[in-house]
Amino acid sequence: MTLEIRPHGHVGAEILGVDLARPGAADLAQIRAAFAQYGVVFFRDQAIDEQQHIAFARTIGPIVINRFFVAHPRYPEIALVLKEPDQRDNIGGGWHTDHSYDAEPALGSVLVARELPASGGATAFGSMVAAYEGLPDDLRARVDGARAVHSARHVFGSKAGAYEAARDTSRDGRIGNAGAADVLDDVVHPVVITHPLSGKRALYVNPAFTTAIVGLEADESRALLDALYAHALNPRFQEVFHWQPGSVALWDNRSTWHYAHNDYHGHRREMHRITIEGEPLP
Ligand code: SIN
Repeated sequence: MTLEIRPHGHVGAEILGVDLARPGAADLAQIRAAFAQYGVVFFRDQAIDEQQHIAFARTIGPIVINRFFVAHPRYPEIALVLKEPDQRDNIGGGWHTDHSYDAEPALGSVLVARELPASGGATAFGSMVAAYEGLPDDLRARVDGARAVHSARHVFGSKAGAYEAARDTSRDGRIGNAGAADVLDDVVHPVVITHPLSGKRALYVNPAFTTAIVGLEADESRALLDALYAHALNPRFQEVFHWQPGSVALWDNRSTWHYAHNDYHGHRREMHRITIEGEPLP
């Protein structure tokens, strides 16, 4: 059966007519094709348990376990993205792409809503394919062929502080393992990648984990990154996804950024995230 695929504003697509608890081979082929085309796909009204979440993620690729997030007590493959009513800072409350600090950055993530606040707690997505395609000529000329350094130390390490939400979430135990971040080597990726699934060019730097452009003086590197971020944050490259009970999102970490809104203080939000292994980026 052909699934219904509805584009979701500027970024992503909603996929209707599939049960993620038992997707057939034809469903999975259509989901993979839409994922490659749109960068993020959304599903509604799903009733999947943790094992079905893991099984669905494995249809996309092998699972990579996040070293810094607290894991689900029974399923280490699942990272908890949690904010309790008495906590102020959320996880993912800044524009980023997961795991760009890895030599083989994660392909994508599958996020399942488990408990939602009555309002708020949406997630915004940005298309880095659209951002690259919309780059003014002068900026494009500066980034084609350039390479950038990515790091986890300033976010998850023991001296973290550049990324306030991560520092506060580590204080209350939602993020840990700072020692592992301290010894993680920085990695270098192209500033513009050729996407492994779609073959499209995409901007691959992000405000959370990219620390410098290789070969530039610190102030020049900062200025270029700031110019790229100012451009990439144009609302015409973004769309917000409003979660409901049963919502699931599968996003591509190589072609999108995301940002978890933190506008539901006093309420609980629990999401389950599985991250899928990637490959070196061309
Ligand atoms: C994340 O950044 O991985 C979590 C996004 C969210 O909680 O909406």
